Amino acid sequence: MKKIAFLGGGKVGQAMAAHVLENKSAEIAFIFDPFRKEDTLLGVPVIRELNETCFEGLDLVVECATADVVKAYAACALKHASFLPFSMTAFREDEVLEGAKKAAAEYGHTLYLPHGAILGLDGIFDGRTIIDEVSIETIKSPKSLGRDDKEYTVVFDGTAREAAGLYPRNVNVHAALSLAGIGFDRTHSRIISDPSVNTNEHVIRVKGEGIDWTIHVTAFAAGAVSGKYVPYSACGSLDRILGSGNVSFV
Ligand SMILES: NC(=O)c1ccc[n+]([C@@H]2O[C@H](COP(=O)([O-])OP(=O)(O)OC[C@H]3O[C@@H](n4cnc5c(N)ncnc54)[C@H](O)[C@@H]3O)[C@@H](O)[C@H]2O)c1
Repeated sequence: MKKIAFLGGGKVGQAMAAHVLENKSAEIAFIFDPFRKEDTLLGVPVIRELNETCFEGLDLVVECATADVVKAYAACALKHASFLPFSMTAFREDEVLEGAKKAAAEYGHTLYLPHGAILGLDGIFDGRTIIDEVSIETIKSPKSLGRDDKEYTVVFDGTAREAAGLYPRNVNVHAALSLAGIGFDRTHSRIISDPSVNTNEHVIRVKGEGIDWTIHVTAFAAGAVSGKYVPYSACGSLDRILGSGNVSFV
């Protein structure tokens, strides 16, 4: 049975841990989360300090904490195990992405990039050489963006690289789209704060040689960072990595 660990024990981490325990699809060694007061979560030990020895003997490390945690541990984790990060805005810094890819190649592990709150990254990745233009518009409530707008406000319009730096908790999907498609500098990002919504909404346009796609995703969120769909998406990604289940969409 594969041995895994989680960095971050919040909404997404707990959903995945519960799913793994219910399906007995892996052994969970620990959940690293310095901000949790409990000594165990779902019966799994919570640790508050992390060093390289913690990764020894693991098959997979799942990050669901913050972009800073990806920056601090991606390359180190990939020396010992495969790595599944959800805080993907960390990769706006080229050295973080290159460090992770280099460690994965050198030690024979895999950097798994999840589709998270959106759909279709596999298809975009497959078509990346014929794609010319990618844009994404995200509409969230002011609360979800950590703002106090009283009316519909365009809070950002520029490159995905800038957006990921300014809103690291809110535009993981812009980062994921950039990684799958034509990069952080050529992906055009817009972020809108709308006090009339309780959803996270993403409208993606992709154009290229003989293709024109629109992907429109809306999920209930009620001001939280992660919307209704993310725990299901995360559990599906984890199942595919662990090879559990007898049917897989590829
Ligand atoms: N890729 C995507 O599409 C996507 C979608 C939703 C969320 N996310 C990201 O996934 C991450 C988790 O989301 P969530 O809804 O579970 O958030 P959450 O706030 O519910 O949980 C985050 C957990 O991380 C812990 N944490 C904070 N700093 C930490 C540190 N330095 N080390 C270890 N743990 C730390 C917190 O105590 C908390 O328990 C966030 O970064 C979020 O932005 C990505």
